[in-house]
Order: sequence, then structure tokens, then C-alpha cells
Amino acid sequence: MQPLLNVENLVKRYDGKRLVALQDELSALDGVSFSLFPATTLAVVGESGSGKSTLALCLACLEPPTAGCIWLEGKNLVALGEAERRKVRPQIQLIFQDPANSLNPRWNVLEILTEPLRLQGKFNSEGIERRASCLLEQVGLSMHIATRSPAELSGGQRQRLAIARALAPGPKLLILDEALSALDCSVQAQIANLLMELQTSLGMTYLFITHDLAMGVHIADEIAVMHQGRIVELGPAEKIVTSPHHEMTRQLLAATPSIAQATRLAREP
Ligand SMILES: Nc1ncnc2c1ncn2[C@@H]1O[C@H](COP(=O)(O)OP(=O)(O)O)[C@@H](O)[C@H]1O
Ligand SMILES: [Mg+2]
Repeated sequence: MQPLLNVENLVKRYDGKRLVALQDELSALDGVSFSLFPATTLAVVGESGSGKSTLALCLACLEPPTAGCIWLEGKNLVALGEAERRKVRPQIQLIFQDPANSLNPRWNVLEILTEPLRLQGKFNSEGIERRASCLLEQVGLSMHIATRSPAELSGGQRQRLAIARALAPGPKLLILDEALSALDCSVQAQIANLLMELQTSLGMTYLFITHDLAMGVHIADEIAVMHQGRIVELGPAEKIVTSPHHEMTRQLLAATPSIAQATRLAREP
């Protein structure tokens, strides 16, 4: 099977205007390479500042990488012209930790959902409404909340709405940047389950960014551990847990008591 996404040697340096240039300044991304196959989930796990959000922004074409290639189904997004890139961009959707920043507070649920559908120009107004109601149903929300504003929703409902809106343009890849991190544990579990259901029903591919290794292991097929702008370990989730190679992976494991305990129990005779 061909990968959906192939990232090669991605480098990102933020050029701040500094009075004194720091010679050995770290790159936010320093030669990141990986492949992501259709209908699978790669969790990107790492401590704060390791470059996870920078990776998300580069993949979603919201930050230009300094060097490297991002192949989406054989097209190098980095080399595309602006017009071409604009056409490809809806195929990669990004969901952030706090949807309050990405959902227009002055619009109601229906307006938020119908805007990307209108932009596509594929549906008449009746079709748009039908598609919006179908999207709400897919994420476990009902049309009863159609006239509410984002502020009138619970955190879980808001994140479900953000997922529905991200699905509206029919993307191939969803990038979730700490998308569950601000939610209560039980709501996290519900939305993680929703994401896995959507993967089965729609064949969705996820890049799931989290600082929470346990959540990464729960939701992902493969885990990439990031440290100082590099992927220091990449492999199947269960292998990362049972035989970690890199010191950073061991540190993350040690800081995740539920996994540390489970692997200890599994090793005991
Ligand atoms: N807009 C920016 N300008 C300058 N430096 C940035 C910017 N965004 C992130 N960085 C730096 O890049 C590094 C990686 O940050 P980030 O990608 O946000 O990591 P993470 O999401 O893993 O916490 C950090 O050292 C951060 O300070
Ligand atoms: Mg981040």
C-alpha cells in the first residue's frame, strides 16, 4: 500500500529578529521523516517544546518549512505554487486544543458547519443543510443545538463540532494537536472512541499529537517520540511500550504510571 503522507527531512527554523544571533540555536524541526498510511493513526508524543505543533503547522501548510518535502499522495506540498496549494489544503485539516480559537464565536453551530460546505460550491442550500445535519450526527451531536453559539456548548460538544467542521471538506488527513488535552478524562475517552469509530466508517487517517503517552498508545497504531525537533523513536505502539530504545521514550513511560504499571505486571511471572 502507498503511504498517504510521506515526510522527508523536514526542517523548520523560526528566524526571530534578534540582536545577537545564537549560533547553535536549535531548529524547531530538525530533519523529521516518517510515512503515514491510509486509515491508520500515528501518535506524535513528546514534551513541551519538542516541535509537535510546528510539525502540525507545516503539514497543514500554515507555516512554510525551511527545508524538506511533504508528499501527499505523490504531490510535494512544499514545491506547489500558491494556487495549487490552496486546492490541496482542504485535504489536511487541523484541530487544536481549544476550539474557541478556531470556531467563530459570533456564528451558531449551523453557520459554523455550513461555511466550509458553501465554500466548496458543491451543494445547493437544501443539500448544505442535509450535509450539515449528517455531519452533526456523525460526531454524536443533534440538530437541536443548531442555533446555539460555541459558548453555549460544553467543552466536549465544542470539540465534536470542531471535528464535524474539519470533516466538512472531506479531508484525507486529520491532524489533532492536543485536541483532547483540555477535556475531562471521561469526555476524552468518549471523543477518542468517536475518532476511532470515524476511522472505521470513513477510513480517516490521523496524526494525533499529544504529550500524553497513554492516550497515544490507546488511540494509535504507531508512535513517534519527538525530542528537540527530531523523531528519536518510531514504531508500533505496543513495541514502544514494551521495549523502548531511546532515553526520552523511557522518561515518557516513567511519567505515565498507568502504562509503567501495566508493563510491569505483564513482565511478572
Ligand atoms: N512562532 C514561533 N517563533 C519562534 N519560535 C517558535 C515559534 N513557535 C514555536 N517556536 C519554538 O519552536 C520550538 C518547538 O515549539 P512547538 O512546535 O510549539 O513545540 P510543542 O508543540 O512540542 O510544544 C520551541 O522551542 C518553541 O519555542
Ligand atoms: Mg504544541
